[in-house]
Amino acid sequence: MTSESAPIFARGVRKHFPGSERPALDGVDLTVRAGRVCALLGGNGAGKTTMIRILTTLTRADEGVVRVAGWDVRAEGTRVRASIGLVGQYAALDEVLSARENLELFGRLAGLDRRRARERAGELLGTAGLQEVGRRPVGSFSGGMRRRLDLATSLITIPAVLFIDEPTTGLDPQARRELWSSVRALTAAGTTVLLTTQYLDEADALADDVVILREGRVIAEGTPGDLKKLVGEPRMELREPTLEDVYMHLHEGVAAS
Ligand SMILES: Nc1ncnc2c1ncn2[C@@H]1O[C@H](COP(=O)(O)OP(=O)(O)OP(=O)(O)O)[C@@H](O)[C@H]1O
Ligand SMILES: [Mg+2]
Repeated sequence: MTSESAPIFARGVRKHFPGSERPALDGVDLTVRAGRVCALLGGNGAGKTTMIRILTTLTRADEGVVRVAGWDVRAEGTRVRASIGLVGQYAALDEVLSARENLELFGRLAGLDRRRARERAGELLGTAGLQEVGRRPVGSFSGGMRRRLDLATSLITIPAVLFIDEPTTGLDPQARRELWSSVRALTAAGTTVLLTTQYLDEADALADDVVILREGRVIAEGTPGDLKKLVGEPRMELREPTLEDVYMHLHEGVAAS
């Protein structure tokens, strides 16, 4: 398989928003192979959401080749949209409806008949760990529960490629762990996933491959293990290396480029 036919393929992606000083994306290459989970890791303003928006046809790149699920995002956007799921930064849930009703509604919107929508809602409540609260109105849900439901709604019909923008920002450690296990369970079907995160531990928990973005450029990529090795052995305080540690390590290389 050539890399251009990979589920996510981007070469030389550039995006400069009018009026801003520097490009949001400055020649980004990204390939995610079938069935892999890739984390796009970077701090605030690194360009993560812009990259997700370009890959999901919501924003156009100024330059570059971008193919998702084998289709060109510019010329074949409708095909791309039919092949993907997107979990954005904010939930699109109906607060008054229960979790189950939300899932059934999304199922009907996705074209399932009433019976199949009900079945699928039941399956997804189970996988997302929300079975016991399935009949409660979403308005009463915690941030972590909402996020898991949000993820479940994007998997009603299993997409070939799934995008998740910052799955756990703002969640407490317990809720983050629960969400991680939902992501693992829900993506076990072999969907190719690109998620963004600001946290190395999240990339480590979920991703096969990690791409680090800083100021619109890819500054490092590899497996979570490769990146942690860059930073060396765990420190005296037995702390896991963080994104900051990787930045510190890469700093000289970036300054020289
Ligand atoms: N619609 C827009 N108009 C102008 N500038 C924008 C727009 N969207 C993003 N930017 C700028 O592009 C850069 C990258 O933003 P982006 O939202 O992609 O970063 P991010 O990595 O998702 O950050 P965060 O972690 O805060 O979500 C930032 O400098 C941002 O201010
Ligand atoms: Mg963002």
